[in-house]
Amino acid sequence: MSSRCAVVRGIGEMREARERARRAGRTVSFVPTMGALHEGHLSLVDVARRHADEVVLSIYVNPAQFGAGEDLDEYPRDLERDLELAAARGVDVVFTPSDAEIYPEPQTTWVEPPEEMARRLCGLSRPTHFRGVLTVVLKLFEIVQPDVAVFGRKDYQQAVLIRRMARELQLPVRIETAPIVRESDGVAMSSRNEYLTAEDRPAARALSGALMVVRAAFRAGERSGRVLGEKARSVMQEAGVRVEYAEIVDADDLSPALEAGPSGICVIAGHVGSTRLIDNAPLAGSCSLDDSEE
Ligand code: PAF
Repeated sequence: MSSRCAVVRGIGEMREARERARRAGRTVSFVPTMGALHEGHLSLVDVARRHADEVVLSIYVNPAQFGAGEDLDEYPRDLERDLELAAARGVDVVFTPSDAEIYPEPQTTWVEPPEEMARRLCGLSRPTHFRGVLTVVLKLFEIVQPDVAVFGRKDYQQAVLIRRMARELQLPVRIETAPIVRESDGVAMSSRNEYLTAEDRPAARALSGALMVVRAAFRAGERSGRVLGEKARSVMQEAGVRVEYAEIVDADDLSPALEAGPSGICVIAGHVGSTRLIDNAPLAGSCSLDDSEE
């Protein structure tokens, strides 16, 4: 290990660490994760470091955001490796609580996201996912009390809902987002990429391929949200992806964009073998896909 970070498991200990930072006049950035860290997470740490004196990263596989039959038990876990990666990237504190700390009793009080934003896109197949995410993120914010929290734009719907929660609940935290990081073949980095086999790879690549096609069509003048969504869908289907959704949405409220404008986002999801993948890109402006575009 090139350096060390403090590893904190208890809520009380985490609050003490935060209090010490406050007394020393140090600001804190927070990167919540479910572990299985990859370059995407570590790029969030880089953003977090630019915004505060100390970086806290949490590693907690939150059962409340997994539905019945989802991959909670199989979700990749490798704490030793994660701690090494976090320390090498300059994380100051890793907070890795247990289920008993976060859910000491059955959870009956939830942060319910607005239905029109959360019961579509990923929320159609995962109807309780976002209330699980918002509830744990609010708990983590309350424990870590960060000045800034950083989320990846790969989970676009999640980032929009967290920003909205922070605004409507008037939480004293600034939400920053960071660009998608891609593997060399364009596949958006995700802990679930570990499930992909070599045979799955061409289909997995079709998600970023579909986004490039949509961006090119928008540049060429196509403005129908329906036509652009259909283009993404057919690229994915031709590569063997079982498409869950392919839509153009408003960047702020995720409503479907009938007439696509430069602030629209193309959001897509599909299954490759047994792996569910999501991706997105803005219709206009530069993004992480540009490295792979001509
Ligand atoms: O994006 C994730 O890894 C999770 O949804 C989060 C934000 C850590 C909450 O469990």
